[in-house]
Amino acid sequence: MTRGRFITLEGIEGAGKSTQVGPLAARLRARGLEVVTTREPGGSPIAERLRAVLLDPANAGMSDMAELLLMFAARAEHLKQTIRPALDRGAWVISDRFTDATYAYQGGGRGIDLGRIGLLEQLVQDDLRPDLVLVFDLPPAVGLDRAQARSGSKDRFEAEDLRFFEGARALYLSRADQMPERYRIIDAARPVAAVQEQVRRLVDPFVDVALDRAE
Ligand SMILES: Nc1ncnc2c1ncn2[C@@H]1O[C@H](COP(=O)(O)OP(=O)(O)OP(=O)(O)O)[C@@H](O)[C@H]1O
Ligand SMILES: [Mg+2]
Repeated sequence: MTRGRFITLEGIEGAGKSTQVGPLAARLRARGLEVVTTREPGGSPIAERLRAVLLDPANAGMSDMAELLLMFAARAEHLKQTIRPALDRGAWVISDRFTDATYAYQGGGRGIDLGRIGLLEQLVQDDLRPDLVLVFDLPPAVGLDRAQARSGSKDRFEAEDLRFFEGARALYLSRADQMPERYRIIDAARPVAAVQEQVRRLVDPFVDVALDRAE
């Protein structure tokens, strides 16, 4: 049995990640693949409870280090309960955010040393990394306006200022730049249909290669 592939959708608030999960999953299913869609923080029962703690605006005073460790605690659960079992049985996993979000938010946004994040990544994931990372890129002001229009109330991250999201965006772009073989940048400022088309154009060849290898 060939291991499934692991695709993650990344980008700041309101970039349109969640909007594109369904169409992307449908596209892969149409090619005969079993697909599991999931999200971070969350994606398993305990990880979803940690998500509630992480997003709750009442926890505004949380230390940066506690936030980082809770993200990886949730990820350890998510990997054990959801991601690894799916990949092991040959399913493809699409996750709405994963560890790149930790580099972007806790690293680029909060200023935590990237080497420390890397240590936790290795500890929690061993050698598991996404096979393909789609970075939804757009100016933070546009994303925040979209997120605001979607729901009136802000979670603990949405309440951050533009500087925080500029830092997160820069980190996403620099990782995409450093690892072009696994990363693709999506112009997320365009209309939903155009973004969906760009995702399709970037993911189709990746699926072709994976299915060829499986034969
Ligand atoms: N390309 C687009 N153009 C305009 N509006 C969009 C586009 N994509 C999504 N939207 C809308 O913007 C809002 C945010 O989209 P979505 O929830 O998919 O973003 P997200 O990246 O998942 O955000 P978050 O990180 O906060 O979960 C939604 O109301 C959605 O309908
Ligand atoms: Mg979302």
